[in-house]
Amino acid sequence: MQSLEDRLKQLTPEELIKLTSGADFWQSAAIPKAQIPSFRMSDGPNGLRYQSGTGDALGINDSVVSTCFPTASAVACTWDPELISQMGRAIGAEARSLKVDMVLGPGINIKRNPLCGRNFEYFSEDPYLAGMLGAAWIKGLQSEGVAACLKHFAGNNQENDRLLSDSLIDETALHELYLEAFRIAVETAAPEGIMCSYNKVNGTYASDNPYLLTDVLRHQWKFDGAVVTDWGALNNKVASLNAGTDLEMPSSHNMFDQQALAALKDGQLKRSALLRAAGNVVKVAEKKRPAFKGDREALLRQNGQLAQKVEEQAAVLLKNEDGILPIQSAEKLLVVGQMAAETRYQGAGSSHINPPAHTSILDGLTKAGITYDYQQGYAFENKTAGRLTDAAVTAAKNAQTVLFVAGLPETDESEGFDRQNMKLPVNQNALIERMAAVNPNLIVLLIAGAPVELPWLTKVKGLINLYLGGQFVGDAAANLLTGKVNPAGKLAESYPITYQDVPSAEIYDQNPRSVGYAESVYVGYRYYEKAGQPVAFPFGFGLSYTNFKLSDLKLNSDQVQAGRSIQVSVNVTNTGERDGAEVVQAYVGNSPQRPLKPLKALKGFQKIFLKAGETKKVTIELSAHAFSEWDQQQQQWQLPTAAKFIIVGTGSNQTLPPVPVKVNGQSIDDAAREIPAWYVKPIGKPSLTDFTQMSGLTVQPPTVSRPGRYTRLNTPRELSAHSMIVRKVTEIVKKNMTKGISDPSSPEAKFMETIILDTPLIRLAQQSSGKLSLSLVDKLVAIANRHYLRAIFGR
Ligand code: BGC
Repeated sequence: MQSLEDRLKQLTPEELIKLTSGADFWQSAAIPKAQIPSFRMSDGPNGLRYQSGTGDALGINDSVVSTCFPTASAVACTWDPELISQMGRAIGAEARSLKVDMVLGPGINIKRNPLCGRNFEYFSEDPYLAGMLGAAWIKGLQSEGVAACLKHFAGNNQENDRLLSDSLIDETALHELYLEAFRIAVETAAPEGIMCSYNKVNGTYASDNPYLLTDVLRHQWKFDGAVVTDWGALNNKVASLNAGTDLEMPSSHNMFDQQALAALKDGQLKRSALLRAAGNVVKVAEKKRPAFKGDREALLRQNGQLAQKVEEQAAVLLKNEDGILPIQSAEKLLVVGQMAAETRYQGAGSSHINPPAHTSILDGLTKAGITYDYQQGYAFENKTAGRLTDAAVTAAKNAQTVLFVAGLPETDESEGFDRQNMKLPVNQNALIERMAAVNPNLIVLLIAGAPVELPWLTKVKGLINLYLGGQFVGDAAANLLTGKVNPAGKLAESYPITYQDVPSAEIYDQNPRSVGYAESVYVGYRYYEKAGQPVAFPFGFGLSYTNFKLSDLKLNSDQVQAGRSIQVSVNVTNTGERDGAEVVQAYVGNSPQRPLKPLKALKGFQKIFLKAGETKKVTIELSAHAFSEWDQQQQQWQLPTAAKFIIVGTGSNQTLPPVPVKVNGQSIDDAAREIPAWYVKPIGKPSLTDFTQMSGLTVQPPTVSRPGRYTRLNTPRELSAHSMIVRKVTEIVKKNMTKGISDPSSPEAKFMETIILDTPLIRLAQQSSGKLSLSLVDKLVAIANRHYLRAIFGR
């Protein structure tokens, strides 16, 4: 049998290049003469968005029925790698039932700012948690013989202008925060694929970035799978292959093949890079994957139950005053809110699933045999108070307990654009206040993929955060409300009080094309704790219907050495009267004077189930890496010589006293670096001047495109601004591409619109399945530049 290398050598340059670009919207190219098959990809990550056929109107047509699991922001609150692995396995089995070879997930980008429109698809603000949960998902999926494609690598933390943004991230934050989740997932779970993101990182597109794709990913982390572009993220075919990208998706219908061939001839495209790319694609394509032999209907039923279980473990009990929860069956319950009847259970965009069934909150309560009255109370569309509101207030006066179902309407949260603010709709907030004024027994169920401000928090007695809970969110909610399931979810992100409290609040989305990550490592609890900024709910927080106590914390050593780990053990007791689960969280702390170091960072955790009254010992292993830091000089992780702490708790703010440890590594000299004071004690907001001084990175002022300066990299929105002709053409394209969407105000329509208007022309062409040619793009650019002769004669 010939080696892959030898087989590749027998292919022509054309064939090698062909392998590095998709055959259509979802499949890689096959080379039948060499018996190289294609492989098929399909979206994840909270279920399978499988589209039959070869094409797709940019990816949002109706998909084949599949289980819709809770989205990642909910899933992360389980803090349960084993359960997440089961979810990965379940998605893997569904993938094989449709002959899918690679699932595009999980997404593990760091939640830098709560307004990122796609935060519902990401796990956490913390890289250790995101990395470990992502790894669990990958292991589960790949154990079914399906390749995972970890995404979006890297620095993709906003949706506005995601195709043109430049994420400017200093080295410490890049390695200790933004890349760390990917490092953990790659090194622990070896995904077969990784998806490079649309944006630039420190001036270079992720798809063209040799530092990210080769130095870090392949050399440091030993990744040996295929790098796949996000759909339309290829910037420059030759640069991308040289940099480490293997597969361009979707197919650009050979748009760049000639350019690549010419570059190969004149030596600009390295033959070794082309062979690597083709080889990595072939490896995924030729991997033997099991055939599905079961019954798909039965699989969907079984996975539906798992989706419900994940949500039951994910929901976070945030407040429970006077033991208002669980509700008693004899209570006269009033349920209020359109969201109770039309419950959102997933986000919009490429992760949108078409489930076989789903339950609203009202369905869930009815199925569980709970009697209730219902008032709609508010409407998603109509934000003004009126008849609905008054009727709900009157009904609330007579109810024993009010269950208010609040949340973000679906048009607020989507891939493709960021949220405009962190507020719930005003009509919901106002009605909650009115409810609280007439009935003190008020419980809120919250449905949103990311944090919202909770101005009425002190006025409600109960609060459960369901996030976006998957197809059976209603059943899960009923079980949690009645206590059939004891809540055990823990927040995987901090819940700020107001948006203004967020460290990046003043800079996020202000200049979306040149984005200074000025807050550096101070994201989420790393900021709130060191800045002394109060939050509504801290990272790692979550209540239960029982209580837990930690005691007897022990370390097997107080000296940290290279290559050795520390065992941390603690006893956990369920001191209440119900069975329940608790999450023990182990953080490594730094002294407060250290620049660019948080007070503490999560480095280990374990979820444990305890019967009422039971005690168990939990042991968490902290490897030497947990105490290591990124060393810019050496360009590697290094164990420092420093005094550190081990901090164990059941939430980032509920901990036992810190235990000091001595880390015996290389000497570090913080003082030698000139770092502005904000990065030692981050009080208030960071400034871009300090950021430049600390990082050497400079934010570029926003550029305004105007006639004469347009290129293929400008977007239809920009070109349309000064050209009626381009405006008209864009309108026609938009009409064409949104034909299948009946409701123009739906999130799908809004998502599609941003894709069409905000994608650079060259990338629209690349994804258009040949409908938009490069010569038409050039004509449009010429028209927008008012070079009419060039538009007509092509010169
Ligand atoms: C998204 C990816 C997705 C791909 C294919 C892109 O717009 O960013 O996450 O996997 O489309 O649908």
